[in-house]
Amino acid sequence: MTTSASAWVITGPTSGFGHATALELARHGTVVLVGRNPDKLAAVAAEIEGRGGAAVAIVADLSDVVSSRRAAAEITALELPVRGVLNNAGVMLSTPATSKQGWELSFATNHLGPLAFTDALLPSLADGTNVVFIASAVEDPGRIPAVRAGFRGSRFISAQAAARGEYTPGGSSRPGMDAYATSKQGNLAAVFSLAREYPRLRFRAIEPGVNPGSNLGEVPAVVRVIAKALTPILTVFPHFTTSKRAARVITRILTDSSAATGTYYNEDGKPMAASTQVSDVAFCDRYIAESRELLATVTS
Ligand SMILES: NC(=O)c1ccc[n+]([C@@H]2O[C@H](COP(=O)([O-])OP(=O)(O)OC[C@H]3O[C@@H](n4cnc5c(N)ncnc54)[C@H](OP(=O)(O)O)[C@@H]3O)[C@@H](O)[C@H]2O)c1
Repeated sequence: MTTSASAWVITGPTSGFGHATALELARHGTVVLVGRNPDKLAAVAAEIEGRGGAAVAIVADLSDVVSSRRAAAEITALELPVRGVLNNAGVMLSTPATSKQGWELSFATNHLGPLAFTDALLPSLADGTNVVFIASAVEDPGRIPAVRAGFRGSRFISAQAAARGEYTPGGSSRPGMDAYATSKQGNLAAVFSLAREYPRLRFRAIEPGVNPGSNLGEVPAVVRVIAKALTPILTVFPHFTTSKRAARVITRILTDSSAATGTYYNEDGKPMAASTQVSDVAFCDRYIAESRELLATVTS
């Protein structure tokens, strides 16, 4: 186990993978909980402290660039010995919506906010710190189970187009799927591009597995209850997981002190391949450069 002189930053610790991982991380040091709902954050902090752990809550709306940067500044000011940062918070929306900056909300929450948050934290991170993003294999148009579920992979034209909610033709017929897949590809582009940009840090991505028991997606309450009940049974099928199981894999990769960087892991913590598109260095760099051009328009 890592010494208690370690701190771990996690976004989205109030539900699903993030909640289970926050509890697991508390065994490795202080957990910095970054989320949008102060009451939910306080409840998770109390849960960790009730088990003898230590937690700090930072309120941030990761769909809002200003709030994301402010959260990074607040964390830096704490001067904690941060050993790892987990970008986990995310949404999958089926109703069109925009962020405070007027950008498509999935792209803002899943990619632009986390990139702004990470960019603002990077200067304060010690050499060797792990920065992990929870990605999703639905970005890959060759991922057969995702295609069966209705995804058609990332439909990236440019960051500017994604922020407007515009995608390459031939996408999914289901609302929100192109936005989700395109935004989650941004997590992989960030890991692959930042790993080359910052060799002193370690960037890793994880496809955590399919977890119908989380609160991801806009589904009727009754469907949610049934999905949660069925989740443990569904793990007999390939790629399905539970929050607890994924939390163990995520924690292992986040606390791993090896030099691995620019790496992508599956639900078992084994190396996996990303789509051909995001495996291309020039594509990743363009995705991130265009995203930073958008972020640079937000100056406050
Ligand atoms: N579930 C799956 O099958 C699956 C598969 C592959 C990848 N993933 C990825 O796994 C990650 C976690 O998803 P999950 O399935 O655990 O979903 P979840 O149960 O809905 O948890 C999402 C977390 O993100 C937080 N969040 C959402 N919008 C936010 C915002 N604007 N600012 C700050 N926090 C925000 C939520 O906070 P609140 O509690 O306040 O809503 C919650 O803590 C996501 O990145 C998702 O894309 C999920």
